[in-house]
Amino acid sequence: MTRHIVARTTEIPPGGNKVVDIAGRDIVVFHVNGEFFALLNRCPHEGAPLEKAACVARLTSPEPGIYQRSRVGEMLRCPWHGWEFDMRNGQSWFDPKRVKIRSYPVAVERGDELQKGPYVAETFPVHVEDSYVIVEV
Ligand code: FES
Repeated sequence: MTRHIVARTTEIPPGGNKVVDIAGRDIVVFHVNGEFFALLNRCPHEGAPLEKAACVARLTSPEPGIYQRSRVGEMLRCPWHGWEFDMRNGQSWFDPKRVKIRSYPVAVERGDELQKGPYVAETFPVHVEDSYVIVEV
């Protein structure tokens, strides 16, 4: 897999998303609960753009009349027919073994780490303690 820088973290606000083209693939990157998730921007049912999907909670019911919400914002509800998918791995809620969206690994890294060139001068740690400067070599 090749790594691609797709956005600054500030470009995708919490609860928002950004669509990017990577090697001809339309990929949507979501920012939810402090994490980023990347999925193919195409519903496996009839191809709706998932950038328009609602980000909803997982809703379960242990018994009639009792509802529990969890993982708020991490479930995608397709805008065309309402199929739901887990943003974390692309699996559908109704048939997780057979129907899923292609998902991609996402990493967040500091810009200064990404921009390092191939030539790096040797450096040494420096500490200031009281009024003495100490250099470790
Ligand atoms: S296109 Fe997504 S549920 Fe139909």
